[in-house]
Amino acid sequence: MKLWGGRFTKKTDEQVEAYTASIFFDQELYREDILGSLAHVTMLGRCGILPPEDVEAIKAGLKKVREKLERGEASFSVEHEDVHLNIEKLLIDEIGPVGGKLHTGRSRNDQVALDMRLYLRARVVELVRGLANLQAALLDKAKAHPDAVMPGYTHLQRAQPILFAHHLLAYVAMFQRDVERLIDGWKRINVLPLGAGALAGTTFPIDRRYVAELLRFDDVAPNSLDAVSDRDFVVEFTAAAALAMAHLSRLCEELVLWTSAEFSFVELDDAFCTGSSIMPQKKNPDVAELVRGKTGRVYGHLVGLLTVLKGLPLAYNKDLQEDKEGMFDTVKTLQGALDLMAPMIATMKVNEARMAEAVRRDFSNATDLADYLVRKGLPFRQAHEVVGRTVLYCLQQGKVLLDLTLDEFCQFCDRIEADVYDALAIERVVAARNSLGGTAPEQVRWQIGLFEEKLAAT
Ligand code: ARG
Repeated sequence: MKLWGGRFTKKTDEQVEAYTASIFFDQELYREDILGSLAHVTMLGRCGILPPEDVEAIKAGLKKVREKLERGEASFSVEHEDVHLNIEKLLIDEIGPVGGKLHTGRSRNDQVALDMRLYLRARVVELVRGLANLQAALLDKAKAHPDAVMPGYTHLQRAQPILFAHHLLAYVAMFQRDVERLIDGWKRINVLPLGAGALAGTTFPIDRRYVAELLRFDDVAPNSLDAVSDRDFVVEFTAAAALAMAHLSRLCEELVLWTSAEFSFVELDDAFCTGSSIMPQKKNPDVAELVRGKTGRVYGHLVGLLTVLKGLPLAYNKDLQEDKEGMFDTVKTLQGALDLMAPMIATMKVNEARMAEAVRRDFSNATDLADYLVRKGLPFRQAHEVVGRTVLYCLQQGKVLLDLTLDEFCQFCDRIEADVYDALAIERVVAARNSLGGTAPEQVRWQIGLFEEKLAAT
């Protein structure tokens, strides 16, 4: 018998039952659902809506149901559609018809919104912790290789030498914004929808602020129609998660490149790689590839949810049931990636010699020759032209700038003197970029201190 069966004369078509049910996935919310019900019934008692003996019976019953579910001694059925009705049914089975009083002054519409918020606000805390762990791993790696120089790229062409630590800190900065975005969104998650009823409020003298206090919500949703149909908090969360995945994916793309024989800048620990079923020599960066690959599903969930919301009339519509799987999967996808990325970075070996070699045999100090000429009085545009011709000459001779003799340099510009070799030395080139936020060791040290402070405050 359905809990809402009174008005019906026929049994629900089996396929309809399966199609409209959400229990297959929303059972994930059973703890939140019971927690919310405990607060609701406590309030019903305090407001004199239910007598104390009923409240006690319901509370004890809910706890019993929770225990049974935790021990796998109770199970859900598709007949009861979703987690809310299933738990109500289990409660009634446990304590009899008095269990039917729990739903007084409440609807599944405000109940489900509450469950989603309870679920998400706890998960956001875990995700922030995951991001912070990854930031810590990146910071440690940066500190372990304070002088390592690598080519910096634009267009994936070598551009200017940078500190490897500077490159890692770029990701620390991205993840810092992700942390801040998640924490900011938390404020809008942590608002109580319960008490909105189905859509218009309730005739019972409920106390929403008391429920908010019990469940530690900062505020109460002020409009009942909005309270039951608002999923902005899930959109915001998914958008923040999508960006975090984008950042992870970019880092992973670099790890995939860097672990290739062509780069060989880093080596991932064996424990974080997998082999090939046919090629015995292979060691593949599967985790990095999968994180990159899984980014797409989080983007999909974001667009999916925005599309569900678009054009929905007020207030609750069954379409909203489509909000859950994407949210659960987003949480799991991001958490799963973070849990692996932190130890993968921590155990990664950095090939400092290989990165330094890459910088020594290229033209990433060409800008510095132009800057040198500017200091000798040439307009920058003219200096650019001179250096361009010098580079072309080097390419034809199979040399790099530091291979040229002073005579060769002077063929291109007679202002060049012996101090040019010092100006073009890689360590000098890096140290010279000492503008705020630049790659010079002093700036990188400053960044490390800054992000360590932020991390400590997270
Ligand atoms: N399973 C539903 C959902 O996830 C719960 C709310 C259902 N409300 C209703 N009146 N059908 O959205």
